[in-house]
Amino acid sequence: VSILDSKEPFRKAGWLTTRMIAAAPTMMGLAQRYWPIPKLGGKAAVTRYDDVLEVFATDTAFGAPYEENLAVITDGQPFFLGMEDTDQYRAQLQAMRDVVLAQDLPRLGEEAERRAEAIVAASNGRVEVVSLVRKVTFDLIGGYFGVPEPPRGSLAVWGSRLFEYQFTGSPKETDWTKEMAELALAFRNHVDAVIAARKAAGQGPDDVLQRCLAAQAAGKPGYSDVEIRTALVCMVVGGPPQPPMVVPQAMEQLLRRPRWLRTAGEAARAGEDARLHDIVFEAMRFDPLAPALPRTALADHWVARGTDRATLIPKGTNVMTAFASAMMDPRRIPDSERFDPDRLPHEYCHFGHGLHQCFGRMINHATLHRMLKPLLARPHIRRARGGDGRLRKNGAFSERLVVQFDAVAAA
Ligand code: HEM
Repeated sequence: VSILDSKEPFRKAGWLTTRMIAAAPTMMGLAQRYWPIPKLGGKAAVTRYDDVLEVFATDTAFGAPYEENLAVITDGQPFFLGMEDTDQYRAQLQAMRDVVLAQDLPRLGEEAERRAEAIVAASNGRVEVVSLVRKVTFDLIGGYFGVPEPPRGSLAVWGSRLFEYQFTGSPKETDWTKEMAELALAFRNHVDAVIAARKAAGQGPDDVLQRCLAAQAAGKPGYSDVEIRTALVCMVVGGPPQPPMVVPQAMEQLLRRPRWLRTAGEAARAGEDARLHDIVFEAMRFDPLAPALPRTALADHWVARGTDRATLIPKGTNVMTAFASAMMDPRRIPDSERFDPDRLPHEYCHFGHGLHQCFGRMINHATLHRMLKPLLARPHIRRARGGDGRLRKNGAFSERLVVQFDAVAAA
């Protein structure tokens, strides 16, 4: 079967890989305490809150190593995730900021909830949370940016496969790279066709693509067809694969804490969205996106200078920047093991920090909790019986979590 028709969003990870990723938070927790900046054979990690923020903030010394993999996806076109802090970075980021607007956030939040509600309402009381969130997110974000389903295959599978390659693959893995190059070509061709059709129609809905085309027509730089295509492909690959990872993880954490599951249900039923947001984002802290984000040392740099853990990171070192561990650092996060939705914003770094901080973070703050709201609002929400009712992961990716609620008989 061609990769274009695959129904599996991710490759099958081995049992050992999945176990090792699951053990990472414990390992990082031990490191945070006893060896906060471990360094061995060209690799290092930072595990304390202060050091994680220092590495993210010092982008002149620690670069994001994404360019090579991105080139496979974009056919060598630059995208700002892979760049250092250059004029080109700032111009490209600004071009996207001019078309992805804060005024859209309330309607994105409402749409996320409406789409999730439709799935829950049609479910007969049994819902698989990972596929719910995947469907809602790709429909929502694809629609917002103006990228519809391809004529063949599925946007969610294409986006997730390329995301997996972008963040866990490498051009050194030649067979995988060849397969992803084929998929990426199909994705680019799809988006090119969408752009051409919109231009031919001369009109379209008020989405990001339409705003890009309006900017192009007005002669603004940064919106050539290729620049628009690159941005749309990278947004759909970079963004929507992530909520189906972290939102089911948050649900699993709530299921482990019946009192907070109840409180979340009350907030959902009362329409207290801000409270629900705080509960869901706190739940995410106990199992965030990933243990760490990668950085490469661009120059020799002392981390934690002036402390007794000060460590020289030589140029070329791969640095695991353990933001999950940072959010559990008791030196900065009061009573860090306690579930507390009243924490301050700086106690979280779900979306990174500094130069490459998540472009979609405001969209996430507007939508992630709204995807769970219809489910949480249902009566007696609980795990399905047996293994189905526990979050199963495939490597770093959430795979399956089935919950049940008492379906109310139609009047
Ligand atoms: C649960 C949802 C999400 C999580 C947890 C998440 C997390 C992150 C993180 C941690 C980074 C920083 C990467 C690094 O510094 O190495 C990042 C960057 C980025 N995210 Fe997200 N993200 C999410 C959703 C989205 C969405 C929905 C979009 C698009 C609409 C998006 C677009 C981006 C882009 C374009 C970047 C690169 C920013 C730059 O290089 O300046 N993300 N995200």
